[in-house]
Amino acid sequence: MTVQYQSGFGNEFATEAAVGALPSGQNAPQKHPLGLYTEQCSGTAFTAPRASNRRTWTYRIRPSVTHRPYEEIQPGQIRSGPFLETPTTPNQLRWSPLPIPQQPADFVDGIITLGGNGDPAMQIGVAIHLYAANTSMHDRFFYCADGEFLIVPQLGGLRIHTEMGVLEIAPGEICLIPRGIKFRVVLLEQEARGYICENYGLPFRLPELGPIGANGLANPRDFLAPAAAYEDREGDFRIVAKFMGRLWTAAIDHSPLDVVGWHGNYTPCKYDLALFNCMNTVSFDHPDPSIYTVLSSPSAVPGTANCDFAIFPPRWLVAEHTFRPPWFHRNLMNEFMGLVYGAYDAKAEGFLPGGASLHNCMAGHGPDAETFERASNAELKPQYLDKTLAFMFETHLVVRPTEFAMKTRILQHEYFECWQGLKKHFQPAGLPSQKDS
Ligand SMILES: [Fe+2]
Repeated sequence: MTVQYQSGFGNEFATEAAVGALPSGQNAPQKHPLGLYTEQCSGTAFTAPRASNRRTWTYRIRPSVTHRPYEEIQPGQIRSGPFLETPTTPNQLRWSPLPIPQQPADFVDGIITLGGNGDPAMQIGVAIHLYAANTSMHDRFFYCADGEFLIVPQLGGLRIHTEMGVLEIAPGEICLIPRGIKFRVVLLEQEARGYICENYGLPFRLPELGPIGANGLANPRDFLAPAAAYEDREGDFRIVAKFMGRLWTAAIDHSPLDVVGWHGNYTPCKYDLALFNCMNTVSFDHPDPSIYTVLSSPSAVPGTANCDFAIFPPRWLVAEHTFRPPWFHRNLMNEFMGLVYGAYDAKAEGFLPGGASLHNCMAGHGPDAETFERASNAELKPQYLDKTLAFMFETHLVVRPTEFAMKTRILQHEYFECWQGLKKHFQPAGLPSQKDS
């Protein structure tokens, strides 16, 4: 199938899959000329400031309310805030890639929560999920009322059919699905794996650019929203809803992806991370990773994100007389990292594509012993860091691991050992070294 897009982030789009689906000059005509129902979907309060207000008017075959009542179902390995299953360790944590399931599992079945913070009831915090799937969703649809989904595929392409249209993403791209928007996921290859940030907080937006100026980082026109595309299908279908941390399902006798036309700025979108315009030092020292922020969900505290999504893509390293990998550091913020492909420059081994690491509030971390030795002695020629794509979900609240995260076989209990080889090098000036005395 041909997938069509419109370019821009947060733009006011207008798109119709049948001529006349979009009324002209008004939102809600008394009677729609094509017999469609009018329905507004608001992703922010009606009264949110214009710059952050998000809403879309949809013109659909049936309104969203036409489903049977929801009943709770087992959540599988999906967990939700408040994350109180198990005590939160101050230790640095790292996980190997999630195996692809042996049994049939679609995108929703394949979600496993590693941790999170905040509470969807308070609309603060995030949940961090992995997914591993081998089956497409045809007659099952999903929506999440608890937060938006930022999907970072690591293995296998996805075709995501949403109420606003169809998006295709492959590893190296991301997809953002707003809170409440229904979708189903078709696998474009036999297996799919990746990461999800479920953002309970304010919707992700592009970061301010400050002194960088009008251009740079992720440029708005590189975000692609789908053109309207609808399904006029009837059958014995199910909607799965994530609401207040639990999963619910309802029968529906038609596809809820039946929006024939829509206009507004509340829409899924995708973005190719290869288009990220990196900024970095051209003199010395290692800047903070906030220079790689693609998207940011603000908290109520100025300059402190509910969640930042940052990437570490291929780029030149040119800093002089500088230790070029990230230095050792501790952070108020909480750092969850994943790897889409390649190798991350602060770790010699163990951080694998599809794997993950978590360095929570004030947990010391940084290069492993091998990387420290290498980077301390490297010849500092301009170097192109190629074929690598790591990312970080950085969030202001401590990420509390789930019971699964602490008990799974993919948890690397030996992670701490990568720093144990860091030796004492201190030699006070003017004093003989111990071996000389
Ligand atoms: Fe860090």
